[in-house]
Amino acid sequence: MDIESVPGRSVSSAFHRALLLIYLVSALAVVPVIYFLTKDELFAQANKELKLLVDVVSSARAIVKDKTRPYFLAKGEFFAPVVSSTVMAKELATQFHTLQPSYLIRMVSDNPLNVENLPEGLEKDVLETLRQGNNDKGVIQAGTIRDRNYLISAVPTKVHDDCLMCHGDPTAAPSDITAKYGTTTGFGWKTGTTIGATIVGVPIADLNAAVLKRSGIVIGIITVLFAGVLIVLNRVVQGNIIKPILHITEAAKAVSLGRSNEPLVSDRDDEIGALTRAFELMRRSITIATGQIARLNKTRTDR
Ligand code: HEC
Repeated sequence: MDIESVPGRSVSSAFHRALLLIYLVSALAVVPVIYFLTKDELFAQANKELKLLVDVVSSARAIVKDKTRPYFLAKGEFFAPVVSSTVMAKELATQFHTLQPSYLIRMVSDNPLNVENLPEGLEKDVLETLRQGNNDKGVIQAGTIRDRNYLISAVPTKVHDDCLMCHGDPTAAPSDITAKYGTTTGFGWKTGTTIGATIVGVPIADLNAAVLKRSGIVIGIITVLFAGVLIVLNRVVQGNIIKPILHITEAAKAVSLGRSNEPLVSDRDDEIGALTRAFELMRRSITIATGQIARLNKTRTDR
């Protein structure tokens, strides 16, 4: 029997529309979910590295405070890296920067001996925050320094009496310090004030780029999966629903035209099988009925 499809809406296009809708919803839902997961992950990673770096810097400071400073001061030696923990931290920062240029370790002050240590951009804001909030524990915040994204941890640098031998009166400061840095800035610090900050920063990977890349991969996988589902579903719908229905439609047309001698059989035990058998019963009844009518007509005309 020649099977022709029914014009207009078909069962499979309803399936296609439903599937397309699910596909679009899942593809759209992927982006915000990935955004939040990636953001969390990048910040957790940056936080971990930050803690590590802060601990490295405070270890270097502790060595000066507990070991080298008492030893050298007792001998009347003022060599800054072994007497000032800040200078040691600065030395560490300089060495570290040559190995890991994307990380940041800065000892800043707005009244510095070394003008390299003047705070810039975000560093200025952070110093201001530390002063205003009287924030002894320090702050952690994300921001940009020299066009790079960082998660930074900043702790205030407080002036102690010890610091004044180099940062107090310039005339009393060690001569190699005044020779190197001059006498105009970096002096006149007051005990107890927040003169600067130690700022440690770790790079935060570009969030948008990471989100874009991950979303692309996940949407790609979803697309392949849905394409596979679509192909399988098409085959199942075509073979199990559409073809048998078109077959029964053709048979019904044949019955209506009086050409009903082809029996419809189905060994399926589902709804389509039941429909086919019910249709076959109907076809037989109609065949019998039309046969009887024909015989009746014949006997009537024979008379
Ligand atoms: C033995 C001398 C000496 C002592 C004591 C000393 N510093 Fe310094 N400090 C220096 C020198 C030298 C520099 C400049 C380092 C550089 O070239 O970056 C400096 C730099 C700094 C800076 C960076 C800003 C700047 O001035 O360039 C801070 C902040 C700082 N010291 C804080 C302290 C604090 C706080 C103390 C006391 C706890 C202290 N220093 C004690 C010598 C000293």
